Amino acid sequence: MTISKLTSDKVKERADIVEVVGDYVPLKKKGQNMWACCPFHGEKTPSFSISPAKQIYKCFGCGKAGDPIQFVMDIEGIGFQEAIRHLAGKYGIEVEEDEARTPEQNLEQNERESLFIALNFAKDFFVKNLQTDEGRSIGLSYFKERGFSPQIIDKFDLGYALDGWDNLLKSAKAAGFEEDILLKAGLILQKEGDPSRLYDRFRGRVTFAIHNISGKPIGFGARILTKDKNQPKYINSPETPIYHKSDVLYGMFQAKKAIRDLDNCFLVEGYTDVISMHLSGIENVVSSSGTSLTEGQIKLIKRFTNQVTVLYDGDAAGIKASIRGIDLLLEGGLNVKAVVFPDGDDPDSYSRKVGTQAFQDYLKNHSRDFIGFKIGLYQEEFERDPIRKAEVIREIVQSIGKIPDPIIRSVYAKEASGLLQIEEEIIHAELNKSLIKSQKDHFQKAKDEVEAEEKLEELISTSAQVSFIEKLSIHEREILRLMSLYSAESLDEEGKTVLEYLLSETLETKFQTANYERIYNLFRGLISTDKKLDLKGLLNTFPGESKNEIIDLVQQRWEVSAHWTGRHGILVPTEKDDLAISSYRALLWYKKRYVEKLMAEASMNIKSSEGSNEDFEKILVLQSIYLEVKKIQVLLSKELGIVIG
Ligand code: CTP
Ligand code: MN
Repeated sequence: MTISKLTSDKVKERADIVEVVGDYVPLKKKGQNMWACCPFHGEKTPSFSISPAKQIYKCFGCGKAGDPIQFVMDIEGIGFQEAIRHLAGKYGIEVEEDEARTPEQNLEQNERESLFIALNFAKDFFVKNLQTDEGRSIGLSYFKERGFSPQIIDKFDLGYALDGWDNLLKSAKAAGFEEDILLKAGLILQKEGDPSRLYDRFRGRVTFAIHNISGKPIGFGARILTKDKNQPKYINSPETPIYHKSDVLYGMFQAKKAIRDLDNCFLVEGYTDVISMHLSGIENVVSSSGTSLTEGQIKLIKRFTNQVTVLYDGDAAGIKASIRGIDLLLEGGLNVKAVVFPDGDDPDSYSRKVGTQAFQDYLKNHSRDFIGFKIGLYQEEFERDPIRKAEVIREIVQSIGKIPDPIIRSVYAKEASGLLQIEEEIIHAELNKSLIKSQKDHFQKAKDEVEAEEKLEELISTSAQVSFIEKLSIHEREILRLMSLYSAESLDEEGKTVLEYLLSETLETKFQTANYERIYNLFRGLISTDKKLDLKGLLNTFPGESKNEIIDLVQQRWEVSAHWTGRHGILVPTEKDDLAISSYRALLWYKKRYVEKLMAEASMNIKSSEGSNEDFEKILVLQSIYLEVKKIQVLLSKELGIVIG
């Protein structure tokens, strides 16, 4: 049911941002605001700020921002209604439901409510069955044999479905549940050929309750205990209106806090692996329960962390079959690591074999990033067969190409080049091919990722801004130096001069150093006269006081980037030999610094609106300006990496 407006208003009025956030992270007062390490992304120095005056929080690192309700939604991974309920609970506010809805909405809502209640009834029923004679001797003894403690059985709502046709059906009906709801809940089935005959779906099996993110049971997995080869090992609940398999990960409810705290999510194969890891003291673990990973599940993980460690059984063929999942994770913008267990072991068997400490050590010592993992997997193969090597390279490059963040992509390209012992150039060439294919996609995703990798802090202070102007000034000078020395030299076949090129690329910016701006304007004035002047010509044309400055400029050899070198006896072209590259590079640097100055200004603005009474919307606008500029800066850095490299 929907919560009444009155209730949500009461909650909004009562909820205090400091109290709400303080329940999750320790806060420190600094100035008017409170600060914390952001609970939404891993960091060591606090960039998460809380304004008691405005009752909002925002993280300068990852950009997350909002009011107390938004905070609860984000941190618990729940919707608005649930967040209101949560806060109402915290503050002891009575929740009033709103009855005003359409009949269809009521019907649907009633059905969902009924399904939740039915699933919860079944969970309780299975749990209680464990204490019956049959449950004790079959179900409980199986769990004990697997090393499951009473606490873990309770934590995961493990249970037992009695060996009979209609135990659940009967007691559910006695409790007032309608057959229709039990069917929709996936708890009972209709006999083939005779739909009026109903029977329990789960019989004579131990049960693993599957919870949604707020801990409500929404389905079951049920494992056989006999060696009957004609029966499937597991029977799972079907899709229902409350159980969308592709959006659910087994164990997420029990894991979400640990995943966020440790900023990593272990991904395992099945129910028993999740539970064994908990027994080994590792709680940040989920499973997609025997099926391949979906986009919805990846989104779910991303609510809590950007780092996934996939755990593989030590069986190479099995790994290769399931490795596609990694690309999906990469595409989702997650950082991926992998751990492979010794042949024949899975997390469950291995943790039982070696014990808690050795298991934890194993995870620590054997976790590799996906590049090293993938290459290691194929190493033997391609060392034998060069053609296979080419295929593996292509495959690995394809995986790298899935990564939305250009900077991370290039880090991996470098690593792959080292491990595969091939030129980075070749990797980049392959990468470009695969990138062009999905460029549009990637651009959108890159945009989102840039927001996540903010390092705003150093830009916030005034001193940082001053130093940006200083840095910028160096590049303004370099542009003027090139203009002075090579003004009339042509850059390309069409005869475009260095001066024309540099001017056309800088017209929309403004030089920050007063002296340089004056000289820049002199150059700009030349364009309209259409005169092509060399250095001597310039010195004759420009007014007296600027002459000395120009002489100063051209004499400063502050960056000797190109010269003859004896190393390897190779002749490196001088700057004059390739003016196109020299000018291009100077422009990139200039633009990069210019953009960084804009970023510093944007963050100053954010900072100052914070202290004043600016409204939250304005701050968000400023943040989005900042992020726009940041995107450009990343692109420029990337381009520079290539040009310099
Ligand atoms: N699974 C499933 N349906 C099956 C087999 C497996 O849904 N018919 C899923 C379950 O989530 C299971 C996971 O795949 O936990 C791993 O399978 P397996 O290791 O065979 O299950 P375990 O119960 O761990 O069996 P064992 O004790 O043999 O390791
Ligand atoms: Mn297993």
